[in-house]
Amino acid sequence: MNSKSRYGEKYIRVAIASTLLMLVNTIDAWNPDNQYAPTHIDCPQDASFVRRAEGLSPEELAWVDARHKVTDPLLIDFLGRMYMEDFEAGSYLRDTSLKIGLAFSGGGYRAMLNGAGQISALDSRTVNSTKEGHLGGLLQAATYITGLSGGNWLVNSMVLNNFSSIQDLQNSQVTWDLTVPIFSVSAKGPAPLISAGVYYDNLKEDLKGKEVAGFRTSITDLWGRVLSYQFIGLNRGGPALQYSDIQNYDAFKSHVMPYPLVVSLGRAPGTRITTVNSTVFETSPFHLGSWDPSLYAFTNTRYLGSNVSNGVPLNDQSCVTGFDNAGFVLGTSSSLFNQFLLQLNSSGLSGGYLQLMNSILVSMDKGSKDIAVYSPNPFLNLDGDTAISKSDTLSLVDGGEDNQNVPFYPLQQSVRELDVIFAFDNSADTRHHWPNGASLGATYDRQFGPQGNTTMFPYVPDNNTFINLGLGTKPTFFGCYASNFTSLRHETGASSDYSPPLIVFTSNHPYSYASNTSTFKMVYTTNEVSSMIRNGYNVMTRGNSTDDPEWGACVGCAIIQREVERRNDTQTEQCKRCFERYCWDGTLNTTLPHEYEPPMSGNLNSQIKV
Ligand SMILES: *[C@@H]1O[C@H](CO)[C@@H](O)[C@H](O)[C@H]1NC(C)=O
Ligand SMILES: *[C@@H]1O[C@H](CO)[C@@H](O)[C@H](O)[C@H]1NC(C)=O
Ligand SMILES: *[C@@H]1O[C@H](CO)[C@@H](O)[C@H](O)[C@H]1NC(C)=O
Ligand SMILES: *[C@@H]1O[C@H](CO)[C@@H](O)[C@H](O)[C@H]1NC(C)=O
Ligand SMILES: *[C@@H]1O[C@H](CO)[C@@H](O)[C@H](O)[C@H]1NC(C)=O
Ligand SMILES: *[C@@H]1O[C@H](CO)[C@@H](O)[C@H](O)[C@H]1NC(C)=O
Ligand SMILES: *[C@@H]1O[C@H](CO)[C@@H](O)[C@H](O)[C@H]1NC(C)=O
Ligand SMILES: *[C@@H]1O[C@H](CO)[C@@H](O)[C@H](O)[C@H]1NC(C)=O
Ligand SMILES: *[C@@H]1O[C@H](CO)[C@@H](O)[C@H](O)[C@H]1NC(C)=O
Ligand SMILES: *[C@@H]1O[C@H](CO)[C@@H](O)[C@H](O)[C@H]1NC(C)=O
Ligand SMILES: *[C@@H]1O[C@H](CO)[C@@H](O)[C@H](O)[C@H]1NC(C)=O
Repeated sequence: MNSKSRYGEKYIRVAIASTLLMLVNTIDAWNPDNQYAPTHIDCPQDASFVRRAEGLSPEELAWVDARHKVTDPLLIDFLGRMYMEDFEAGSYLRDTSLKIGLAFSGGGYRAMLNGAGQISALDSRTVNSTKEGHLGGLLQAATYITGLSGGNWLVNSMVLNNFSSIQDLQNSQVTWDLTVPIFSVSAKGPAPLISAGVYYDNLKEDLKGKEVAGFRTSITDLWGRVLSYQFIGLNRGGPALQYSDIQNYDAFKSHVMPYPLVVSLGRAPGTRITTVNSTVFETSPFHLGSWDPSLYAFTNTRYLGSNVSNGVPLNDQSCVTGFDNAGFVLGTSSSLFNQFLLQLNSSGLSGGYLQLMNSILVSMDKGSKDIAVYSPNPFLNLDGDTAISKSDTLSLVDGGEDNQNVPFYPLQQSVRELDVIFAFDNSADTRHHWPNGASLGATYDRQFGPQGNTTMFPYVPDNNTFINLGLGTKPTFFGCYASNFTSLRHETGASSDYSPPLIVFTSNHPYSYASNTSTFKMVYTTNEVSSMIRNGYNVMTRGNSTDDPEWGACVGCAIIQREVERRNDTQTEQCKRCFERYCWDGTLNTTLPHEYEPPMSGNLNSQIKV
């Protein structure tokens, strides 16, 4: 159906109750007034919400420890299915926990959908994913998962819906309706019988409620509410759902999901950030903050919005809960898309919808279009006196604005001790919307700047080499040998016992579909959605290992490499072969490439129907 034919009609959504709605009954820590506006509550006794970024928090340490009780046997099970030669996972990893991180880049729906295919390939719940040649189960064995912008829509769609699978999200009667523009009323929807008028009235009331409660709003508030209807399978997109409520989810409490981290950036209004001076923020169900020297502190996610000084609530004031609205977190990491709301005329929205949306926007401060306002600043008057701690407001923006479009940063922190990062780059770097490895270069460069703070990131090639060597046309491993980090360790000041994780880097690539859609393509047919997801699945699995029957074993070799090195074992012959095939060996070819046209692999020609 042409989506435009719906506008102006007072059509009524047929919403079918979804199992996701059951969540409403199981979560006990809702923002008490069940509304978008934050609520004042009594402060916890002796509350002090801020912590210096020294080591992991006790909450994360305990959670990760319990997660490994779940992942350890599942990793052994996964590796056992990868046909690794001369390697017996059960005995090798009997007393060892390996730490795996998954990182999903930004890039709008393109990144979300390619990422969805890639993650579903790793998810043992996906039908047929544990068959020979497939990689199902790696998700279940991962410790951490990070997302940024469009990648955060993907990760949080799963996480905020009790870790639902991609197939659930696709089949849901509630979430992931990409057939109409996001700021119109979806054909799917959790709220039965909601009309356009009611939808826009609700949006308006939510924003007004937050203002009446004494909080500044920004366009990100509106963006976050709109995203919630799309991604959170609760009545009205769960206006009262807090990011910290994830702590109470069954799948989180039972450590069935990896630990989620959402990446955004700190930026003062009117200033510009660069790769080397950005302050990278991470938001988890427990904490929000940054490891960078420009902040080097974390606050408690649940009590965001409280008036504090150096993390301690001001004596005469109550505390606040509900500021960490789940949709607001979704919107913060993807705030670049705020510009959509400001360009409604070209968005496909028309008639009554356009009028209604404009009537909301007209009253909003459009001065700092892409900024999410966190006010009061949770880091005000922090000991240590950084620029961020002097301002009344904390301003956060889209995690990709410093060109680090793959959220490596939380996973690089030496305190998290990761062994391997599976990185999914679905960026649009080239004219034709393919990645060219630029995000790798940005994160590499950053380690030498003021914010590097002894983090380490492996050697990576420049953009031109990346394209000339075709490193995006199949997965590529970076930082294969810890023995090669000696001079890097020296340059960054990292400690001698720390090696950065090995990186398995997977770029968007046309395997079975032209998956290089524009970042700003906001409407996809159901067929387009399925084709994008299948492409991601094929890219991750190398066509279910038809391109390389040893691909699964090679993934296994990447996972165990740091442990093999710690034990000073020699690699198996098979792993040596794999590393020859998949590791970037340091070769450079910096000549300017012709217009990037990734070679076709798979049976693209026959499958693209123009
Ligand atoms: C799963 O595999 C079976 C047997 O090969 C096949 O019939 C079925 O269509 C597959 N299902 C999906 C969703 O790929
Ligand atoms: C949430 O997920 C957990 C673990 O997968 C499951 O046991 C539980 O039933 C789910 N809860 C709801 C409300 O779907
Ligand atoms: C980052 O560097 C740029 C260029 O030097 C400068 O314009 C900007 O103000 C800096 N931003 C911060 C937050 O330091
Ligand atoms: C990182 O920066 C902070 C703040 O400048 C500093 O206290 C800390 O020691 C640094 N971390 C390391 C590992 O050097
Ligand atoms: C925080 O303090 C300011 C200034 O005293 C006050 O205007 C504001 O209402 C307070 N906010 C909250 C959430 O208590
Ligand atoms: C949208 O169109 C209206 C009416 O044509 C016009 O007044 C308004 O300035 C336009 N807005 C933008 C952002 O272009
Ligand atoms: C690499 O590509 C990115 C995005 O296309 C571009 O911004 C950057 O300047 C390029 N870097 C170099 C060194 O050419
Ligand atoms: C997708 O890539 C192909 C081949 O590189 C190119 O011809 C096409 O224009 C690209 N599509 C978009 C939307 O960029
Ligand atoms: C790989 O398997 C998936 C699902 O099981 C299927 O959709 C896809 O078409 C297969 N890919 C190839 C290249 O056969
Ligand atoms: C590691 O193995 C190499 C070669 O097998 C050997 O030369 C070296 O001494 C070993 N190092 C340690 C710390 O055991
Ligand atoms: C090994 O280290 C050297 C610098 O010592 C670096 O130039 C080279 O790219 C590294 N090789 C790989 C494969 O990372």
